[in-house]
Amino acid sequence: MPPEKFFNYLPDRVSFSSKAAAKIKTIYAPLCGTDALSIKSAISPFLSGDIKIDKLHYLTKPASREDLRQPLREFFIFIKGKGVVSLFQEASGNASCVEMGPLWHKVTRRHKAAGLELTAVNFVPVSGETVELMKVTVKNISKKNILCVPTAAIALFGRALSNKHDHEHVTALLNRPRQVADGVLLETTMAFNEEGHKEAHGVYYVYGAQDKGALTGSFATVDSFYGDTGSLLRPQAVFENYQPVKLENDALNGKEAVGALRFKEMTLKPNESRSFIIAAGTDADQAQSLKTFNRFKTIKNFDQALVANQKFWSAKMASIEFNSGNADFNSWMKWVTLQPVLRRIYGCSFLPDHDYGKGGRGWRDIWQDLLSLILIEPHLVRADLINNCAGIRVDGSNATIIGSRPGEFVADRNAITRIWMDHGAWPLLTLKLYIDQSGDVDILLEKQTYFRDPQLSRTYYKDLNWTPQYGHRLLDKKAKIYEGTILEHLLVQHLTQFFNVGKHNVMRLENADWNDGLDMAFGQGESVAFTSFYAGNLLALADLMEEVAVIKRLDKIQVFKELLILLDTLGPRVNYEDHKAKRARLFEKYFQAVQPVISGEKVELSIQQVAADLRAKGQWIFKHLRRQEKIQVKKGTKTFSWFNGYYDNKGHRVEGKAATFPGKEAVRMTLTGQVFAIMSGMATVEDVPRIVDSVNEFLKDKDLGGYRLNTDFGLRHYLDLGRAFGFAYGTKENGAFFSHMNVMYGAALYQRGFAAAGHQVLQSIYRMAVDGERSKIYPGIPEYFDSEGRGMYHYLTGSASWLVLTQLTQVFGVRGWLGDLILAPQLTPQEFDQQGLASVSCQFAGKRLKVEYHNPRRLDAGSYVIKSININAKLVTFQSLAPAQARIRRSSITKDAVIKVILG
Ligand code: G1P
Repeated sequence: MPPEKFFNYLPDRVSFSSKAAAKIKTIYAPLCGTDALSIKSAISPFLSGDIKIDKLHYLTKPASREDLRQPLREFFIFIKGKGVVSLFQEASGNASCVEMGPLWHKVTRRHKAAGLELTAVNFVPVSGETVELMKVTVKNISKKNILCVPTAAIALFGRALSNKHDHEHVTALLNRPRQVADGVLLETTMAFNEEGHKEAHGVYYVYGAQDKGALTGSFATVDSFYGDTGSLLRPQAVFENYQPVKLENDALNGKEAVGALRFKEMTLKPNESRSFIIAAGTDADQAQSLKTFNRFKTIKNFDQALVANQKFWSAKMASIEFNSGNADFNSWMKWVTLQPVLRRIYGCSFLPDHDYGKGGRGWRDIWQDLLSLILIEPHLVRADLINNCAGIRVDGSNATIIGSRPGEFVADRNAITRIWMDHGAWPLLTLKLYIDQSGDVDILLEKQTYFRDPQLSRTYYKDLNWTPQYGHRLLDKKAKIYEGTILEHLLVQHLTQFFNVGKHNVMRLENADWNDGLDMAFGQGESVAFTSFYAGNLLALADLMEEVAVIKRLDKIQVFKELLILLDTLGPRVNYEDHKAKRARLFEKYFQAVQPVISGEKVELSIQQVAADLRAKGQWIFKHLRRQEKIQVKKGTKTFSWFNGYYDNKGHRVEGKAATFPGKEAVRMTLTGQVFAIMSGMATVEDVPRIVDSVNEFLKDKDLGGYRLNTDFGLRHYLDLGRAFGFAYGTKENGAFFSHMNVMYGAALYQRGFAAAGHQVLQSIYRMAVDGERSKIYPGIPEYFDSEGRGMYHYLTGSASWLVLTQLTQVFGVRGWLGDLILAPQLTPQEFDQQGLASVSCQFAGKRLKVEYHNPRRLDAGSYVIKSININAKLVTFQSLAPAQARIRRSSITKDAVIKVILG
């Protein structure tokens, strides 16, 4: 028999089972409703984790990774004369199994000695109720009758995330737990917040029902259930088989609550089983909570809701379906495809690994996620794209958090005045993808406001006159809310950055870039990596403007007149070689002109002239970086070359050979510095293979096969660059295998036509992820792998979005170009099946497409050309953009279609 794999996919090829995972305390899965307002749960094979709506409404105590070692959803069976078995307690031998599917979770625990098998199925319904449901089935697997007493228990928290420690006890004093017929109801008198206490609304509950018969009672407080000697691990009420007693309010008020439900004593015959439904939810009031519970409390209703749930999530996962030669890879990609949807719901918080626990998504993350949501949920995105641009300030920076309602922005979650210099680069990338997929160039001409708060001149000044009454929208001199086009917003983001340089004439790192951990070089730090990105964008924006001009038959655009200050080739010019002159133009001329208010006057400019200005700037940067930033390092007889990515706060170059330990020299290299050099086009085609070589030499891990974010700088900390270097090497932003940067590295290589190298990178992530013994995660892509190969911060990562995007638009090469369909496969031979077929199903032009590539000779990318294309069995003509790149008019796609592409 072949050794058992860590996961075995079930017949639907998405759900899977794992005995190995069932032993791991800290592995977890998400369970949630369909949107950001719904229940968000985390669940482990021991049913640990937590259940919540948002940072203010935790049904159960917030759980971070280490808390997963404690029980949460328990079900105990007290067997007279034999003791207690439960869902959390491990059974002897490898007798447990976890199964998971879209989006449900099942644990089976066989307690052989006790003669019982316990199974729990959990999910959150997709019909909008704020409740997590659980069905527990107890089966007699022995040959004798078993007399036993079942008790379900979930400890209730019913308050805010911060109260996990802050005011933990006094917030319990607000509790008013009640024992009701269906279980335990928890009301709280107030929402505690020293900045302004509020009346609490809503109730939390744990209710239960049995297929035959009701509850016999409940325990609503930890005092009455755990007792003095117990805990949820060993509640006295279970282990000593207390009968539930209805307590007086005095014994309930102000107590820590638990939803412990006692079911009727039962005798199970051999092979007989009984099922129990348990619901943990929150609702407006008791009446509403009962209504919710009544909808699900029978086994039949539970099972129906589970089917609806499976249908809903399976459809989401099937929005893009990859069929390559590797069936397990295809299944794995389904979980990756779900991840951006999960991040839309969870934000970056609310699973046991989280960068911050407060919910919401930062600016960069929102734009990353939109990349794949454009592909997965295209109908949902247009309004979001336009709305998000209202977060841009006239100084080119932006509010960092976008709230859940249109027009809601937060300057900073923690009220810190700071700027991430990469933020301005992402919206163009995402809008460009949207325009290419949809052909909707009109979006660029939609009007939007600018964000305004006290922060001026990219954090250099604070407007003490600003008050909340002014509002968050920029006003003009007549106190009217100013509006400009989306295109104008993009111009502001890029033109300001062109002039925002440090002493190496490279854009300032400000408070960090993509790498949040490079946050200590505000004074003199510079990010070469993102300077490349912005330069590539300047060129892309120039092209896009000219294309729009042709499509819309426009030759002029309107912008606010002060923008001319930065469009210097149209007026008084700035010497681009002079970094001081550049900064002066931005800080002394432009910011002075647009702050605190702008004139509101508009000018008409020739599109051609503006495009030429952008091009001059983009090309100047490329030339400058190619001249200045190349690193050469000799190792043995070989010379490696790549691009420097950063300058630190002393103005020192970060990459290359650096003295770290006395008497030793280490090579310092970052992957980020290479990724954007390649992706933007700054690195020439001759540079790319040299960079790949250097990455393989210094960043590729020989054992794990993955690529590290940086080499070991050998420092205890690097206070002149950022917190990242205080992290242990091989973790997080200090040299971990950081998936997002790795996927972008792969994407960049494909974009430049280096398919084989790109394939290796993407495969390395896949292999590390599915090496369950090491990664210890369920299928999907984690934020990073540490040096031991362990997958960390699973599910809620921007890398999922990028991977879906890259697989579809680069590997399979199915993408839009101003609305037309491009087919440009870069599949390598091993990605085709035995018959030489690889296919992908996706949405395009509002239709469902299945694109099949037939490569009977299994030729390699670069060797095959597109020979013919059939749409629904009809031969079509196409424009050949390159030997393996075809353009098909959008008008040819009038209905759902199978597109058959013959490669040869
Ligand atoms: C996380 C953040 C992302 C940031 C990255 C590196 O990555 O969400 O904004 O750029 O760390 O600091 P993610 O979890 O999205 O992969």
